[in-house]
Amino acid sequence: MKLKDTGLTKEQLIAKANKYLIDTAARFDFIEERAKGVYVYDTDGKEYLDFFAGIAVNNAGNCNEKVVTAIKEQLDDCMHTSVYPYTIPQALLAEKVCESIGMDKIFFQNSGAEANEAMIKMARKYGVEKYGPHKYEIITAKMSFHGRTMGSMAATGQPHNACQIGFGDMTPGFKYAEFNNLDSFKEAISENTIAIMVEPVQGEGGVYPGTDEFIKGLRALCDEKGLLLLLDEVQTGFGRTGKLMGYMNYEVKPDIVSMAKALGGGMPIGAICAKAEVAKAFTPGSHGCTFSGNPVVCAGAMAQVDEIIDNKLPENAAKMGEYFMKKLATLPKIKEVRGKGLLVGAEFEEGVSAGDIKHECMERGLLVTACGKNIIRMVPPLIITEEDCDKAYDILKASVEALCK
Ligand SMILES: Cc1ncc(COP(=O)(O)O)c(C=O)c1O
Repeated sequence: MKLKDTGLTKEQLIAKANKYLIDTAARFDFIEERAKGVYVYDTDGKEYLDFFAGIAVNNAGNCNEKVVTAIKEQLDDCMHTSVYPYTIPQALLAEKVCESIGMDKIFFQNSGAEANEAMIKMARKYGVEKYGPHKYEIITAKMSFHGRTMGSMAATGQPHNACQIGFGDMTPGFKYAEFNNLDSFKEAISENTIAIMVEPVQGEGGVYPGTDEFIKGLRALCDEKGLLLLLDEVQTGFGRTGKLMGYMNYEVKPDIVSMAKALGGGMPIGAICAKAEVAKAFTPGSHGCTFSGNPVVCAGAMAQVDEIIDNKLPENAAKMGEYFMKKLATLPKIKEVRGKGLLVGAEFEEGVSAGDIKHECMERGLLVTACGKNIIRMVPPLIITEEDCDKAYDILKASVEALCK
C-alpha cells in the first residue's frame, strides 16, 4: 500500500498510528513504504542502508524475489487450513529444515517467544514424565532475552529490564547463571533441574558470543548430568552467525532448538526442532497452535531457506562480519567490537549515547539498533558487500564525530 493512495499526509498517518496503536516501541520517525535488497525507502523516497533487517529477519534481502513469488503463488492455492489437513508447504519445509540443520522433528509456531514457550513446555513435560513431578526447573543465563510471553519472559535473565518490571510474580521454574561461566551453571544445577537454556550469542543482552569452551562445556555438562540442552536460536538461526545455525560454530547439537525471525524471510513464523526421543513429550492435545505451519508462511519460509543455502549466505555473513568488525574497531570513541558473523555489536565509551548514534545514523541514511545505553547492534541482510560495509562505516563515523565534537 502506498501513502499517496490513502489521501493522507505523512504527518496525518503518523498521528493516526499514535492515536490508535498501543505504545510499545520507540519508533523510527519515518514511514517505511518500500524495501528491496539492502535498502529501505520512506514515503519521501529517502533511501536507508538497512543494517537492521527488521531485527535480523530479512537475511536473504528485503523483499527477496523468490520469497515474494513463493508467497504470491501459494496465495492462489490455499491461505489457511488450521493444523488438521496436511499441506504441501508445511511438509516440504519440515523436511528441509530438519535435514539441513540435523534435527529429527519440528513444530511450527508464529514467533520467537512462542517457539521458546514450546521449547520450555516440551522440556518440562519431558522431565516430569520421565523423572517425576519435581523435575521441571530450567537454568538460563543472566542478561539473556527469550521473549515476552509469561514463560519466555520468566526465562529471560534481566530482572531490572522494562520487559520484566510491573507484571507481578514471574512464572516459577527458572534459575539464572552467569553467561560464559561454566562453573556458575554447574553450581546452579539441583535435583529439580531438567534443562539448560541459552542463546549461542546473547543479542539483546549486548551482543556477547558464547565462547567455545562455554557452549561445548554446557553440552558436556548436560550429557554428564542427564539434562537437556536448549538453544534459543531465534536471532542467531539461518545464517546470521556465519553458519546455518549458531550451534554449528561449536560443533555441538542441542536437544531442542528454537528459531523464528530469519526463517520466514518476513513472514511471521517460529519453530522448535527436537531430537526424536525428546519430541515424544508432545502428543495430540498437549501442545498446538491454530496457525501452526500456515501454508503461505511455510511457502515463503521454504524459499527463504533455499535462498540462504543456495547463495551460501552463511559464508558471506562470516566473511563480511570479519571485514566489518575490523573496520568498526577503528571508529572514534569505540570501546569494543564483538560479534559472530553479521550479528555485530559496537560498544562505545561511557557517555556516548547509543540512542543518539542510532538517530544520527538514521538522519544520514543508515538503520541500526541500540541495545544498552552505549552499544549499537547491527544485523544487516546477509547479502551485503564490502561496499555496503564501507558505506555503513562512513555513516557511523560521521555520526559519532558529529555527536562528540
Ligand atoms: C534470542 C531471542 N529470543 C526470543 C526473541 C523473541 O522473539 P519474538 O519477538 O519473535 O517473539 C527474540 C527477539 O528479539 C530474541 O532475540
